[in-house]
This record gives sequence, C-alpha cells and structure tokens, in this order.
Amino acid sequence: MKILVTGGLGFIGSHTVVELQAQGYDVVVVDNLSNSTLEVLQGIEAISGIKPAFENVDLRDKSAIQRFFSAYTDIKGVIHFAASKAVGESIENPLLYYENNLSSLIYLLQQLQEKSEVSFIFSSSCTVYGQAEYMPITENAPIQEAFSPYGNTKQIGEEIIRDVAKVSGINAILLRYFNPIGAHESNMIGELPIGIPQNLVPFITQTAMGIRQQLSVFGNDYDTVDGTCVRDYIHVVDLAQAHVVALKRLLEGANEDKVEVYNVGTGKGSSVLEVINAFEKVSQQKLPYQIVARREGDITEAFANTDKVYEKLGWKASKTLEESLLSAWIWENKIRSK
Ligand code: NAD
Ligand code: WQD
Repeated sequence: MKILVTGGLGFIGSHTVVELQAQGYDVVVVDNLSNSTLEVLQGIEAISGIKPAFENVDLRDKSAIQRFFSAYTDIKGVIHFAASKAVGESIENPLLYYENNLSSLIYLLQQLQEKSEVSFIFSSSCTVYGQAEYMPITENAPIQEAFSPYGNTKQIGEEIIRDVAKVSGINAILLRYFNPIGAHESNMIGELPIGIPQNLVPFITQTAMGIRQQLSVFGNDYDTVDGTCVRDYIHVVDLAQAHVVALKRLLEGANEDKVEVYNVGTGKGSSVLEVINAFEKVSQQKLPYQIVARREGDITEAFANTDKVYEKLGWKASKTLEESLLSAWIWENKIRSK
C-alpha cells in the first residue's frame, strides 16, 4: 500500500519511514530539503534495504503538489510532517510559519479531498495545551492560547483538518507529540539541528562534545521536584511506531471518529536536572552547566496521560530516558566524527 510521507527526510519523518517500510508499506517521501539532506535517504536505505521513492517538492508550491498527485494516483495514506518548527524563529518571522505550515497543509488537503477515501496523520504538538492545569495531560485538557505563531499553526492546522474531514473522505488522526529525542539504534539516522540548538537534548550532546561551552539551564525556581522544568521525553523510534499503528487504524477503518486525537509521550515527567544527571550517567561525562534566568514562554511542566493511546492504539513507549539519551549521544559522536 502506497503511503506519502511529507517531511520524510526530517528527524521524526525519517524514523517513521523506516518503521513503515518494516511493516511492508510502499513509501514515497516528499521533502524540500529545507531542514534535511539527501544523505538521509541513504541512511534509510542502509537500515531497511529499501530506498524510498523521493520527490523534491516544496509543499508551498500548489502546482507542484498537483503534479505530484497526478503522477502518484494510488496513495492511500499520508503522514504529514513537513513544517517549520523553531518556536523563536516563528516569533521573529510569523508569516514564514503561517505560510509554510498552513499553506502546505491546505494545498495537500485540497488534493486529498478529491479522493473517495484517504487516511491522514498530522504532526501536532503538546504545545497546544500550553500550561495545562492538571498533570498528566489528557486529550480533553483545554487548548490554550498559543504562545508562538509556531504553536498557533498546530492549533489552526488541527481545526482545518477537522473542518475538511467533515465534508470529505479524509479520516484523520492528530498526534500530539511531547518531546521527541534520540536516534535510531543503527546510528544511520538521527536529529540534524542546524545552527545553535534550541532544544535541550541536542544542546546537551553538543556541549558534551565541546561544540558549546556550557548548557544554560533556564530557571531553577519553578514549582517542581528540583525547581527546573519538567517535560516528557520520548524516544523518536517509539514515536515513529505510534505513527504506524495510527495509520493502520485508519486504513483498516477501525477509527471511531473521523478525526481522532492522541497524546504521544511516555507518561513520565523528567526535570532538566534529571535529564542532565541521566546524560552524565550514560555518557560517563561531566556536563558543564549553569543556572540562568527562565526562558520566556516556557511552561513549568508537561507530561502525557497515555491511557487513550494505549487503550485505542495498543501503543506505549518502550524506551527509557537513559536509552534515549544514550542513542542521542552515540549519534552526536557519529556526526562529529565525519
Ligand atoms: P524536521 O525539521 O526535522 O523535519 C521536517 C521536514 O520537513 C524537513 O526535512 C524539512 O526539510 C521538510 N519541510 C519543511 N517545510 C517543507 C515544505 N514546505 N515542503 C516540503 N518539505 C518541507 O522536524 P521534525 O522534528 O522531524 O518534526 C516533524 C513534525 O513534527 C513537524 O510538523 C513538527 O512541527 C512536529 N513536531 C515536532 C516536535 C519536535 O520537538 N521535534 C514536537 C512536536 C511536533
Ligand atoms: C525542554 C526543557 C527548557 C534548552 C519545544 C517547543 C514545543 C515542542 C517541543 C514542537 C525546557 C529547558 C532547553 C536549553 C534548558 N516542539 N532547556 N536549556 O520547550 O518543551 O518544547 O520543543 O512542537 O513546541 O516549544 O523543549 O527542548 O526547548 O526544552 O534549560 O538550552 O529544557 O527550559 O524546560 P520545550 P526544549
């Protein structure tokens, strides 16, 4: 069965392509290489033995998308990762984010609504919950006003999909990811942050590698176990597998609603200092860090209630924080040794 993966050369997309191939799906990747490289295709092939079909298409180009769907008429499912994802950049350049994340989605859905039936998985984010009132966060927690244009594109994207699904043959699952980290165990694919990483784990691995002098821990006066912020860090391969089971549910028509939403996290919260300690343990290295002021927009804590995703999809995370951090560290060593 042919599955389109947009943004399939990116961090989460590439791991998902591998898991789809392992389950026998015929994958075609669309990516404009704005935040990835063609080398990732080789990494995918090295793991699975299959080079997926690849089309260098910018999803903001409506006629290019039309041409793509005229050439690939037998697509039964789409996993839509392609988007820009840097929160800070989205605040500085909101239109870049509204254009890239929303026009791409609209043009894609315009093609898909022509089909009598199609399954659609959307990369949403726990950011839609803002600072939720209760932990762990269930899918029923209210959506809060977005802190950034990036976050807003995820909220609006969810709404667009709900509206279009009502009047088309599109069945959709919105996956709200918590904090994806780590790399494939083969060490052939992983995260490739461009410039100074904004996210905690790539910043830690680059610091341990000596690329960054020290990690700044953004605040230790939060109301948490040790004063630092708490997040739910999920191994990217676990997250990739969640996409495959979600897609299967739609393809088999096992979904109960035209649009379903699931949290994808481990269910376990870890503070920044806990992550640092776990990293030091697995890498057997001391990590230089200092406590600095809070980062604007950071919430105190977020971790997932995973009951629904387990009950309906039979999925739960299998990898520990230590395993995830070790894989990120091994990956960092590989990309720096080139
Ligand atoms: P990524 O940047 O590694 O991957 C995105 C891919 O999409 C890249 O390969 C990029 O080149 C491609 N792309 C971007 N715009 C495109 C366009 N207009 N046309 C074609 N290709 C385009 O990001 P990721 O971490 O793999 O994230 C994947 C998705 O998951 C995104 O939608 C992101 O918002 C969402 N998400 C990510 C996180 C996270 O922390 N990484 C958390 C929650 C949600
Ligand atoms: C994690 C924790 C920081 C860097 C972001 C997006 C969100 C989602 C996931 C896509 C926080 C602390 C970080 C550093 C630090 N992405 N930290 N020093 O903030 O949970 O979420 O990525 O949808 O939308 O906002 O992830 O990795 O940036 O931070 O102390 O140098 O690490 O304060 O507590 P976050 P993160």
